[in-house]
Amino acid sequence: MTTGNQQTFAPVEKLEGSITVPGDKSISHRALFIAAIASGISKISNLLIANDTMSTAQCLRSLGTNIAVTGTDAVVTGNGISGFTEPSGILDAGNSGTTARIILGLLSTQDFFSVLTGDDSLRTRPMKRVAIPLTAMGSIIDGRDHANYLPVSVRGTRLKGIDYTMPAASAQVKTGLMLASLGAKGVMTIREPVATRDHTERMLAASGVDVKVSDTVVQLVCSQKPLPVTMTVPGDFSSAAFFIGAGIIAHSADILITKVGINPGRTGFIDIMRQMGGTVEITNMRFEAGEPVADIRVRPSNLKGTVIEDRRLIARAIDELPLVAVCAAFAQGTTLIKNAEELRVKETDRIKTVVDGLVKVGIKAREFRDGISIEGGTVRGGSVSSFGDHRIAMAFAVASVSSEREISIDNFSAVNISFPGFLPLFNTLRRA
Ligand code: S3P
Repeated sequence: MTTGNQQTFAPVEKLEGSITVPGDKSISHRALFIAAIASGISKISNLLIANDTMSTAQCLRSLGTNIAVTGTDAVVTGNGISGFTEPSGILDAGNSGTTARIILGLLSTQDFFSVLTGDDSLRTRPMKRVAIPLTAMGSIIDGRDHANYLPVSVRGTRLKGIDYTMPAASAQVKTGLMLASLGAKGVMTIREPVATRDHTERMLAASGVDVKVSDTVVQLVCSQKPLPVTMTVPGDFSSAAFFIGAGIIAHSADILITKVGINPGRTGFIDIMRQMGGTVEITNMRFEAGEPVADIRVRPSNLKGTVIEDRRLIARAIDELPLVAVCAAFAQGTTLIKNAEELRVKETDRIKTVVDGLVKVGIKAREFRDGISIEGGTVRGGSVSSFGDHRIAMAFAVASVSSEREISIDNFSAVNISFPGFLPLFNTLRRA
C-alpha cells in the first residue's frame, strides 16, 4: 500500500525467485567519466539509470559531452580531456557525492571557470577532502568553510602530480585525484589509509592507462590518455545486498541473484553475514570488463551478534552498514559496529538515521561517535523515516520481511537515487 510518498510493507511468509539487479552505481559513474575524457565513441551497456548516475550524465552534458541513452545503453562521444567547454550555468550534482568528488577532479584540469552545487544533503557533505589535494595540485577552488561545502567554484589549470596521503578512506576522492592526474604533468601518487573500491584503477587499466597499484598505494604517470570503453556494467552488489539480507532474515527464502559484481572492495557485507552465521553461496564466477561477476544464492540463516571493527572490512561494506544494523536486529545477541565514523557524512548521518529507525520498530540500538550497537530482539514494526536516504529506505523495507507487524517508511521515493526498480523487484520475490 502506498500513501503519498510513504510505503508500507507487510511481513512475508516466503521470499523466492531468480532476479537480476540494475547496473552498478560506482562503475556506471566511472564509465561515464572515463568515456567523456577519452577521445572517441564509448559504448556502455547495463548503465544504471537512476538519479545519481543521471546527475553525472547531466553535468558532463553541460561540459559539452554528447551522451545518448537508450534504455540502459549509453553511447558517449568523448572529446579528450581538453575537449570540455566552459559551462554557462551552475553544474548540479544533485544528491550524488560520487559525482561531486569526481567532477571536482575533472574541473580542476580545465582552463575555465565552473561552479558546482548539489541538493540539501550534498551541500552539507565535506568537499575539503578533495579540494585540499586538488588545490595542492594547482587548482583554485573556493566555497564556504574554505571550499568544504558546495556550492564551490573552480578555476582549473594545468595541474602538477603530487604525492598525497589521504586522511580518510574514500574511493570518490581517490578517483577525483586519478582523473585530475590525466590532465596534469609529472607523477601522481595516492596513498590511502586502507584500500577502497578499485573500480577506477580497473577501468583505467582496461582503457590502456598504466596504473600501478600496490595495496594502499596508487601511482600513475600523469597526462595518460584513456581509450574509449566498450563495457557491460555488472549488477550492483550494493543493490543485491538488500535481497541477500532479506533472504537471510526471512522465515523461508530461496533467492538467486544473477550477474552481480563481486569486486572484493565491495563484498564486505557477505563476509559480515558469514561472520554472523549467514549462508551465502557464490557460483558461476567470471570476469566482465576487468570486474569479477557471479551469481549469488541466499537462504535463511540464524544470525549471531558480532563485533565489526576492522577498518578494511568497514571500507568494504561501507554502504551496507545500515543493512548490517537491520540484520543485526534479527540476530541473537548484540552486534557492535565500530570505526565507522564515515557513516556520519553519507547521504544522511547514517549512524543517527539507522538507530532512529531501529528504535522506532522496537529494537534497542545506541549510537556512538564512530558506530552503533544493536541488541537483537523482536522487530515489532511501526513507522520509520527514510530521512530521504535511499539506503535507509531500502534497509527498513528489508526489516519488514520478518517483523511482527507492518513497517511504514516515509519518503520512499528516495530509492530512485540508486535503485528505481527496487519495489517491483522486491514484490516479485514476495509474491512468489
Ligand atoms: C563510492 C565510494 C564510497 C561509497 C559511495 C560510492 C564510489 O564513498 O560510500 O556510495 O563510487 O567511489 P566514499 O568515497 O566517500 O567512501
